[in-house]
Amino acid sequence: MGEILRVRGGRPLEGTVRLPSAKNSVLPILAAAMLADGPVVVRNVPDLADVRASVAILRALGLTVRRRGPDLHLLPAAVPGWQLPEAPARTMRSSVFYLAPVLHRAHRVRMPLPGGCKLGPRPIDIHLDGLCRMGARAACEGDWLELRAPGRLRGIDYTLRLPSVGATETLVMAAALAQGDTVLRNAAREPEIQDLAEFLNRCGARIEGAGSPVIRVQGKAALHGARHQPIPDRIVAATVAAAVAGCGGSVTLLGTGQDPLGPVAGVLERAGCHTDHPAAESWRVQRQGSLRGVGLVRTGVWPGFSTDAAPVVAGGLLAAQGDTVLEDTVFEDRFACAEGFALLGGQVCRRGRVLAMHGPARLHGARVRAADLRGGAGLVVAALSAGGESVVEGAEYVRRGYADLAGLFRDLGGVIQSETQR
Ligand code: UD1
Repeated sequence: MGEILRVRGGRPLEGTVRLPSAKNSVLPILAAAMLADGPVVVRNVPDLADVRASVAILRALGLTVRRRGPDLHLLPAAVPGWQLPEAPARTMRSSVFYLAPVLHRAHRVRMPLPGGCKLGPRPIDIHLDGLCRMGARAACEGDWLELRAPGRLRGIDYTLRLPSVGATETLVMAAALAQGDTVLRNAAREPEIQDLAEFLNRCGARIEGAGSPVIRVQGKAALHGARHQPIPDRIVAATVAAAVAGCGGSVTLLGTGQDPLGPVAGVLERAGCHTDHPAAESWRVQRQGSLRGVGLVRTGVWPGFSTDAAPVVAGGLLAAQGDTVLEDTVFEDRFACAEGFALLGGQVCRRGRVLAMHGPARLHGARVRAADLRGGAGLVVAALSAGGESVVEGAEYVRRGYADLAGLFRDLGGVIQSETQR
């Protein structure tokens, strides 16, 4: 049984979207909740496939997890488990976030090597190297990984080989309860790392510099519970904005905190969109005139153009007049969606990390297949701007990062249904 999204494209999008909490904040924060000795409430948690997998892992590790409306309530485990349940752990990359919290709780952790989107090689050497320098010992048996740390992890002064988002988060979690102080250098600076640090600080941790390349953590003996509202999802924001670029119309994004579009706004402006900030906590994207290619866009670590936004922006600019060339510097296989773009009528050429698009292209309905989460969303965005009916197969990938993408676009006037196929 597979899930499909059936799209009738060609209509402008109009209306307002309240952005959900960011998936990339929620997933590490749920794992970090294990570090607290008291109850944790994470607010406005979207019902994503990866959130369900995280809840299954937390319950298997002994926590009590309840959904109350949009919020998740977590109570600590009486006897913490140390082995991650295989099925949910294998479905997502974010199972790696459990290494540090389970090590702290149980002094031992065993998990299958993490799964997730196939975007090229995704090693976890920096997570492991950092944890081992803090006193853990790691061993691999087949594709299972086991770490042990008989005593408390120790604070370190550590320079990451590259600014990995996930490894920075693993090491911040490890440092929060380590003995002594930690300095992380060449740390990733993504807003979701600041959000994780803010959550842990609410629990009593002492983390400074998150959002900069040097993070300093004073290890604490224990953390208490807290309530936390994660930041809005900037990739959902980019997806909606890219769809407005492709379809035309005017959509307002509602969310707290900093501009959720960041560097994506500049690229969409170059393409002929207008973006503004009409009121506090609201950002508007409009496209009335023609759509232009934007030339070369390279993805990069924050504050660069997000790799996750690249396929959705490509979907929105597929029909644009002129050239757009997207180069992903983070992952090798980001543009598996290129084949689907071509079936929808896009003039695309993909070479390794580079996706080149030439227009104007006359997009039409087609049957296409998602190969990963953001590529799948990019195909949906392109299908919304194509004339006629399209079917996007493999929509279960899309559900990993969007609770109800069809419902979100229907509310904006898009014609799109989610269906299960036998
Ligand atoms: C996170 C995001 C993902 C986003 C990515 C880059 C979450 C849950 N996921 O993924 O949506 O696309 O950041 O912004 O937050 N690397 C190593 N060794 C390591 C770790 C990473 O070589 O130990 C490499 C990876 O293979 C990749 C690059 O570093 O080429 C960036 O990966 P990383 O920043 O770790 O991404 P994730 O944390 O997996």
